[in-house]
Amino acid sequence: MAFPNTRMRRLRVSGSMRRLVRETTVTVNNLVYPLFVRKGNRIKEPIKSMADCFHFSPDTIVKEAEDIAKLGIPAVLLFGLPDKKDKTGSEAWSEDGAVQDAVRRIKKAVPELIVITDVCLCAYTSTGHCGVIKDAQIDNDATCELLAKISLSHAQAGADIVAPSDMMDGRVKAIREALEANSFKDVAIMSYSAKFASAFYGPFRDAAESAPDASTGLTDRKTYQMDPANARQALAEIALDIEEGADIVMVKPALPYLDIIANARRRFDCPIAAYNVSGEYMMVCSAAQAGLVDKDAAMLEILTAIKRAGADIIITYFAKKMAQSSSKFV
Ligand code: PBG
Repeated sequence: MAFPNTRMRRLRVSGSMRRLVRETTVTVNNLVYPLFVRKGNRIKEPIKSMADCFHFSPDTIVKEAEDIAKLGIPAVLLFGLPDKKDKTGSEAWSEDGAVQDAVRRIKKAVPELIVITDVCLCAYTSTGHCGVIKDAQIDNDATCELLAKISLSHAQAGADIVAPSDMMDGRVKAIREALEANSFKDVAIMSYSAKFASAFYGPFRDAAESAPDASTGLTDRKTYQMDPANARQALAEIALDIEEGADIVMVKPALPYLDIIANARRRFDCPIAAYNVSGEYMMVCSAAQAGLVDKDAAMLEILTAIKRAGADIIITYFAKKMAQSSSKFV
């Protein structure tokens, strides 16, 4: 069927025609909005490294959660900042930690909003690492026990989904066992399964005050986060997490890893999430600020690409903007 029988442009002649044949549409149902919470009252402080993002206290985050629910966004992902950091990150499982407090308040005020909690130690440890250090190494198995403890404390506060982001081996199993043993059978696990050691987490580490401390001798996260060059290994990580009891698996970051999302989509049937991370977000914001790209158009193109690659769920700092501007996207 060569030219002129086939003219591909026939199906591009108008907005309605393009809409009719469009293969991929991002909807508000696909979006998760990340939020940062710290202890205190009446805090709503702009985060310097991340445009339009704020540090909230548990009282002010409720209003924000209500606004997010009103926009139709189904879920938020909570990150906590502690008052005090220590070697094991013990504030992470404190009953009156900022996350636990925020979860209780949000679930009370907006029960229909799904609350996902990030489960990790890096913001809570004095070392800035996602695990506890023993003999100058990250101690995998000891860390898994703590992650299970954190998950349980989030579930007790009312979290719907816990999301371990540490990349320790066996943590999904440890968390699933802890949840089952304590009657939290319906708390889901969204595992950061294929999380790469990426340069694109920079703005987030400022926001979460979670950069690794060089004095530990471990200046990066490369002994636990994945090597960006590995695609087959990413599928192995995902397969293991599903076996261990993950309900949703995640690829992170999103844009440099669309091939991983596409491969995972072909291989696995469970929901796949992709995290459009802080550096990806701020590249667009900075380019728009400099007058180089149209922010709304770039946002739509990027989120559509992530969905087209095969992600069901997109975690993005653009979620509110996308939900607000969706009427324009035809
Ligand atoms: C912590 C964590 C990180 C992100 C989410 N959870 C950063 C890291 O691994 O240092 C990054 C999110 C983002 O950049 O938006 N385990």
